[in-house]
Amino acid sequence: MGYFAQTLTTNKMLCTLLVIELSMSYMMVMGEVYKVGDSAGWDVNSNLDYQSWASSKTFRVDDVLLFEYNATNENVIEVTHSDFRSCNTSTPIKVFNSGNDSFTIKAPGHYFFTSNLSEHCKAGQKIDVRVLKTPPPYKFD
Ligand SMILES: *[C@@H]1O[C@H](CO)[C@@H](O)[C@H](O)[C@H]1NC(C)=O
Ligand SMILES: *[C@@H]1O[C@H](CO)[C@@H](O)[C@H](O)[C@H]1NC(C)=O
Ligand SMILES: *[C@@H]1O[C@H](CO)[C@@H](O)[C@H](O)[C@H]1NC(C)=O
Ligand SMILES: *[C@@H]1O[C@H](CO)[C@@H](O)[C@H](O)[C@H]1NC(C)=O
Repeated sequence: MGYFAQTLTTNKMLCTLLVIELSMSYMMVMGEVYKVGDSAGWDVNSNLDYQSWASSKTFRVDDVLLFEYNATNENVIEVTHSDFRSCNTSTPIKVFNSGNDSFTIKAPGHYFFTSNLSEHCKAGQKIDVRVLKTPPPYKFD
């Protein structure tokens, strides 16, 4: 291995890193897609801890929440904080029922989602999506 070969390899690696970095920053601008519940999807019978799922994520503006479920017996509603706490599903802000619903986060704040079936909400099928104003520079909060 001569000097040239080594320089070429280094340049190649730097180029690859640059491409990876560029595509990563592009993805950040486009926002992340979060499938709610990951492989469990949006399913009360999965026994997934949805609140832990939501609090383990760092959501940002432009991110997308994807709810996948069997629309025959389930749906998604966005509710107020107070209805979220009490599992009152009678006056949702928004109803989704396609079985494959995307919700794009347009502004910072809290978004509360649950099932329109109050007993599913009470069983823990509910998420509090907290969206930060700006990316935290060095520390959280
Ligand atoms: C959805 O649920 C209904 C009723 O339980 C069931 O008959 C149907 O097979 C399910 N569909 C899928 C794709 O799982
Ligand atoms: C809840 O959603 C399911 C599925 O979309 C629907 O069949 C049912 O009527 C809804 N129930 C209420 C109380 O809105
Ligand atoms: C649910 O909310 C609606 C609208 O705010 C209210 O009229 C109703 O009494 C509430 N139901 C329960 C069980 O608290
Ligand atoms: C749901 O929609 C997303 C795109 O929004 C797609 O990637 C995914 O395959 C769809 N899932 C199902 C089960 O149709």
